[in-house]
Amino acid sequence: MNPTLPATMRAVVLTGTGGLDRLIYREDVPVPVPGPGEVLVRVGACGMNNTDVNTRSGWYAKAVTSGTTQEGAAEGFEDVTGESATWGSSSLSFPHVQGADVAGRIAAVGQGVAEARIGERVLVDPWLRDPDDPEDRDNAGYLGSERWGGFAEYAAVPAVNAFAIESPLSDAELATFPCSSSTAEYMLTRAGLAAGETILITGASGGVGSALVQLAKRRGARVVALAGESKMAALRKLGADHVLHRDFPDLATTLQAALGRGKVDAVADIVGGDRFPELLGCIKRGGRYVTSGAIAGPIVELDLRTLYLEDLTLHGATVMPPGIFQSLVGYIERAEIRPLLARAFPLAELRAAQEEFLEKAHVGNFVVVP
Ligand SMILES: NC(=O)c1ccc[n+]([C@@H]2O[C@H](COP(=O)([O-])OP(=O)(O)OC[C@H]3O[C@@H](n4cnc5c(N)ncnc54)[C@H](OP(=O)(O)O)[C@@H]3O)[C@@H](O)[C@H]2O)c1
Repeated sequence: MNPTLPATMRAVVLTGTGGLDRLIYREDVPVPVPGPGEVLVRVGACGMNNTDVNTRSGWYAKAVTSGTTQEGAAEGFEDVTGESATWGSSSLSFPHVQGADVAGRIAAVGQGVAEARIGERVLVDPWLRDPDDPEDRDNAGYLGSERWGGFAEYAAVPAVNAFAIESPLSDAELATFPCSSSTAEYMLTRAGLAAGETILITGASGGVGSALVQLAKRRGARVVALAGESKMAALRKLGADHVLHRDFPDLATTLQAALGRGKVDAVADIVGGDRFPELLGCIKRGGRYVTSGAIAGPIVELDLRTLYLEDLTLHGATVMPPGIFQSLVGYIERAEIRPLLARAFPLAELRAAQEEFLEKAHVGNFVVVP
């Protein structure tokens, strides 16, 4: 270890499953020690995501059937146990440090990692893979969930997860990308979105949604974005070809008016909830639906006749194969996608940042800066 490193650091620790009061800012948290094959990153900024909220509040538990409501996300969902409260159903031990989206510089290296990497500017891939079998999706963890994350001054991560990055963007801007943009790129990969196709994107103003818009445009697709009234102009500016109000009266008719046809090739959905049947109903025969979230509700009504008579394919998208993040770093370095930094908060104000995040008045991503 670098002898100039402090023994303790500032961090926001999660003390248990529950409400925002479970997040405690402390200045005496031990600095993690990088193990063999790991690096210690001095966190320049760390993005905030719904997965932090979902894990803290217990939303991933199967007992919870509602969407990520503002009240549930702020106060915690019913009585859920640690065993079921993570995305992958593993248990958390407390205190814990969350935060998946780390941008910063390598401050120290563990055994087996070249010392020349110290000082390197990095963006961290949050997917923690089995080093012996990186393709094994059943043996994957997430930064800030299965190991301590970036709501702190330092985070230790596997060296293979710390990608060198060259960019004029600030750490706060870089920290908007990892979780939301890699998820979005994986969704489009799962759906096999190709140039010239039309895709409908729900929740298009949020972190994943705005990344979907940019990444679908990058592939040469035509984008139809669904968003709340106050965010529609921002999505037009971002490049969406058609922006529709999220509370559409009738989707087929609305699409017909916008596109000249009532169907799309694919739907990328992070909202789910009551409008799911209409989302599925607007996909042309042989088309694809992909989901990576259900912020409006995970329990949806599926008419199997729509699925089989229309020859549809449904995809889930969470644990992505290696390679997506490397591609993403290239898109960022070549400025093929841009950051949408809604707001940066000091680390000590993480709780206030989450309160504002839960209001869903933002376009893009929130980050905290230690
Ligand atoms: N599977 C994965 O690996 C993965 C990774 C990242 C995220 N996710 C999930 O994807 C979802 C979206 O994440 P995100 O970071 O993009 O979220 P976000 O930044 O909070 O944006 C979500 C947007 O969805 C829209 N929305 C529509 N109906 C809503 C409702 N009933 N309640 C709240 N928002 C609603 C809102 O925009 P408008 O007001 O414009 O409609 C909102 O801003 C979350 O459920 C998250 O857990 C999953």
